[in-house]
Amino acid sequence: MEPVDSYFRCIRVQEFFPDFYRRLLESDAVIPPLSVGVDRERQYSLLRSGIVMLLLHAGGNAAAASALERIGRRHGPRGLGLDPGVHQRWMGALLDTVRACDPHCTADVEVAWRDAVGGGLAVMAGASVVSAAESSGRTP
Ligand code: HEM
Repeated sequence: MEPVDSYFRCIRVQEFFPDFYRRLLESDAVIPPLSVGVDRERQYSLLRSGIVMLLLHAGGNAAAASALERIGRRHGPRGLGLDPGVHQRWMGALLDTVRACDPHCTADVEVAWRDAVGGGLAVMAGASVVSAAESSGRTP
């Protein structure tokens, strides 16, 4: 089961990114303040490239892995200061949106998304922990 197939079905739906973004904002009170000053088109473009990087990483792309490490550090304590736990909100909002937009979404499709995205989010969280340890002078 390829999540990429589901992604192509989703992006045929015009509301996919606005819907994803709305669900993400509603998922946790810490998120809306972070989006202040970032315009909507930029938000949609970050969501779009985030999904693509996570899917490329799931397909074994090495450049995507190092990009995700960099993004993990950017979101971590030395950057935006996001708790990696909030990435589960991102995953939850994505899955809810896929369920709403992919007409062929099944339990298997959801599992495929969860596995694919989960691996990349773990890379981001790992890079964030390393940068946290560096900030406090500890090694992980
Ligand atoms: C709830 C979780 C998240 C929140 C609140 C969040 C928020 C943000 C914010 C505020 C920025 C800076 C905006 C800017 O540069 O204009 C950003 C950048 C970015 N985010 Fe996230 N993010 C989250 C999760 C993710 C995830 C899971 C990915 C997937 C890869 C991702 C991908 C990116 C990328 C690619 C950038 C641009 C980084 C750069 O240019 O250096 N984000 N994010």
